[in-house]
Amino acid sequence: MVHKELGPFVGLGPGGKWMLSLALGMGVLAFTLKIGVALILAESPENTVDRLTDNRFVHSHQASDEKTDFLNPAPFRPREYVWGTLPERAPEPADNPSNPVKIELGKRLFYEKRLSADGTLSCASCHDLYEKAGGDGRATALGIAQQTGPRNAPTVWNAAFQSVLFWDGRAPSLEAQAKGPILNPIEMGMPTPTEAERRLNADTSYRTQFAQAFGDGQLISFERIAQAIASYERTLIIADSPYDRFVRGDPKALNQAQLRGMALFESVGCVLCHRGPNFSDASLLGGETPWRLFPANETAYERKYKLLDEAGQRGVWRIPSLRNVALTGPWLHNGSVDKLDEVVRIMASAQLGRSTGLMTWLNQNSSLGKIDRSPLSDREIRDIVAFLEALSSDTLRAARQQSAATLLRSSDNTDKRQHAR
Ligand code: HEC
Ligand code: HEC
Repeated sequence: MVHKELGPFVGLGPGGKWMLSLALGMGVLAFTLKIGVALILAESPENTVDRLTDNRFVHSHQASDEKTDFLNPAPFRPREYVWGTLPERAPEPADNPSNPVKIELGKRLFYEKRLSADGTLSCASCHDLYEKAGGDGRATALGIAQQTGPRNAPTVWNAAFQSVLFWDGRAPSLEAQAKGPILNPIEMGMPTPTEAERRLNADTSYRTQFAQAFGDGQLISFERIAQAIASYERTLIIADSPYDRFVRGDPKALNQAQLRGMALFESVGCVLCHRGPNFSDASLLGGETPWRLFPANETAYERKYKLLDEAGQRGVWRIPSLRNVALTGPWLHNGSVDKLDEVVRIMASAQLGRSTGLMTWLNQNSSLGKIDRSPLSDREIRDIVAFLEALSSDTLRAARQQSAATLLRSSDNTDKRQHAR
C-alpha cells in the first residue's frame, strides 16, 4: 500500500517509501504493545489491593473463579466496568413500609429540635440539606453545648442506598442509625429513649400524626421515631449530576478533563472500592464488601493527617459514596483534609500503593503481572478531581452558589454600612 498508493501520492522516492513503511510498521507495533500493557494494567489493581489490605475484608473472587485451566484455557478478556445511575426509589425494609404520612412525619422529626436535650439541635443542624449538601461543612461535628465530636458529618443524600451507615459502618440500617445521634451525649444528648417519647407525647399533633402514619392505636415510641425518620431519609435521593446526565445518554454532559478522569477512575482502580451507581461497595445496589482497611498502605500522609489516631492502628472503615463529594469537604472520617486533590493523592498512595515509583512483578499465576506503583501525575490528579466534581448534583451546586452569593451580598452590605459611618 505504501509503495503503490501512498508513495506516489505524496511523491516519495524509493528511499522515502521504505522509511514510510518502517514508520507505519513501528506505529502499529507500538499501538499493539500499548493495548497489551493497558490490558495487563486493567487486570492488575485488584491484586495490588488484595496484597495491600487485610484479606478478611477483601473479596478475592478473582482467585477463585479465574483458576487457570491448562487444557481449556479461557480466552483472555478484559473485565468490563459498567457505569450506572441511581434508581428513583431506595429499597425499604419489610417491617417499615413507607407511606406519605410517615414520610411527612419523618421530615418533621428531622427538623425537630425537641429531640435534643437542650432543644438547640435537630438532625438538620448537622445535615443541612441544601446549603451544605446534606452535611455541615465543618471538619468534625458540633453537638449540644458546643461540644465537638471526633468525626466528620457525612451527607444524608443518597444514604438510603448504603448497606451500612456511619464511617465505620456500625449501623445496619437507617432505622438503627437514626437512634444514634439522638442519644449520643455529644450530639443531641437525650438522656433516654423514654425522654424523647415523653416530649413528643406532650404534643397532640404528634400523637395524631403517629397514629395516622403507623395505624390506629399505635403510640409514639422511640422505635417508630426512628422508623419515620428513616422513611423520610429514603426520599433524599438526588441524581441530577453531569455524570448522571452523561450515563443517561447526553454525550456533552462531561468535558474532556472529566472524561479523562472517568477513564482513570476505572483504570487506576478507584472502582475497586468506589464501585456501582452510588460509588461505594457498601451499597444495597449490588455492593459486596462494605469495609476496607484505611490507610491500607504506609505513607507519610497518615501522620500528617492523623489518620491512625482514632483506631490506634490501621482502621477498618466503610467505603463512603463519592456522590456530591466535591460539595461535602472537609474530607475523610476525621475531616482532616480540606483539599479534594490531596484526598485523591492520599487514596492513590494509601489505597492503591501508587507511591514508590517502582514496578512490581507479581507471579502468582506465572503471568505477566507488572504493577505500576508510581504516583499519579498532577494532570491525572486534576482529571480525577474534575470527574469527582461531575458527581455533584446540579440542584445542590446551585443551592451552594446561591448561599455563597447571599453571604457575599450581606457582607457587602456590612462593608457599605461600615464605610457609611
Ligand atoms: C451534632 C451533629 C449531628 C446531629 C445533630 C446529627 N448527626 Fe447524623 N451524623 C453526624 C456525624 C458526625 C456522623 C458520622 C458519625 C460516625 O460515623 O460515627 C453522622 C452520620 C449520619 C448518617 C450516616 C451517613 C452515612 O453515610 O453513613 C446519617 C444517615 C445521619 N447521620 C442522619 C442523622 C439523623 C437522622 C439525625 C437526627 C436524628 C442526625 N443525623 C443528627 C452528625 C450529626
Ligand atoms: C481499597 C479501597 C479503596 C480504593 C481503591 C479507593 N478508595 Fe477512596 N476511600 C476508601 C475508604 C475506606 C475511604 C474512607 C476513608 C476514611 O474513613 O477516612 C475512602 C474515602 C475517599 C474519599 C473521601 C470521601 C469523603 O466523603 O470524605 C474520596 C474523595 C475518595 N475515597 C476517592 C477515591 C479515589 C479518587 C480513588 C482512586 C484514586 C479511591 N478513592 C480509591 C477506600 C478506597
